[in-house]
Amino acid sequence: MKVLIFKTAEEVKVQAARQLLMSVQRNPESVLGLATGGTMEDVYAELVKQSHQHDASWAQVTTFNLDEYWGISSDSPASYRTYMNHHLFDHIDVDPGATHIPPSEGDNPEMAAAQYEARISGAGGIDLQLLGIGVNGHIGFNEPTSSLVSKTRLKTLTQSTRDANLRFFDTMEQVPRYALTVGIGTIMASDECLLVATGSSKAPAVQTMIEGPLAASCPASALQMHQKVTVMLDEEAARDLELRSYYQLVHPDGQESAVSDG
Ligand code: GLP
Repeated sequence: MKVLIFKTAEEVKVQAARQLLMSVQRNPESVLGLATGGTMEDVYAELVKQSHQHDASWAQVTTFNLDEYWGISSDSPASYRTYMNHHLFDHIDVDPGATHIPPSEGDNPEMAAAQYEARISGAGGIDLQLLGIGVNGHIGFNEPTSSLVSKTRLKTLTQSTRDANLRFFDTMEQVPRYALTVGIGTIMASDECLLVATGSSKAPAVQTMIEGPLAASCPASALQMHQKVTVMLDEEAARDLELRSYYQLVHPDGQESAVSDG
C-alpha cells in the first residue's frame, strides 16, 4: 500500500483529482470505478476544474459506480445517480450512456446485481477504482462481516452507516435500509485502487484498514491484499497510524518516492 499523507484535505482533493485525470489522459478509454459520499464531493469539484483547465476529454471513458441505495427512485434527490450527475457527469463530456450506476429498484435485486457484475466484466474490468471509507471500515456498501471475496449484491446497511448518511435525507425514516453494492471481490479485481479519506472521524477506520489484521470486521483491510493501492489522507485521517513517521519518511508530505514501494 502506498500511504500518502498530506497536510490538508485541500491538498488531498487536488492530488486525488490529478491521479484520476492522469489516468484518463493516459488512456482515453479508461474504465473508472467511482465512489460517492461527502469526501468525493470536493474531489469531483476539483476534477471538473482540472478537466476544464486541461481541456481533457471524457468522451470515451466508461464509469461504474460502486453502489446505489435500494428502494428509492433513481431520480430522487438522494440517489447516487442524482449525486453523480450533479457533482460530475453534468460538467464533463462523458457519454451519459457510458456511466453505470447499480439500479435502485426492481423485482429481482439478485439478477440486477449479476447483470451489473457482468457489465463490469464485459467492459474489461475496472482500470482505476476510486474509494472512500465509512467510519466502520466499509468500502462501497460492504459493511463489516461482508465476505472478502463477495461480488455485487444487495446488502443491509448498518445503523452506523444510516446515521452517517442521514445528512443527505430529511428524516431517518427516509434513509434506505438496503443498497446494491459491488463486492469486495469486485473491487479487488480492479487493476488499481485509490482510496481517499479526510477528517478525524475516519482516523480509527484508516488505522485498522492499513495496520490492523486482514479481517471482515474491517472490509477495507482487504485492500492489504491488493497489489496496487494508493491511500491519500490528510493529517487528521492519518492521526492514529502507528507507523505514520515511516509513511512520512517514504513519502514526505505525500510526495512520490524515487523508488517504487507498492
Ligand atoms: C457511503 C458510500 C461509500 C463512502 C462512504 C463515506 O457509505 N457508500 O462509498 O466511502 O459513504 O462517505 P463520506 O465521504 O461521506 O464519509
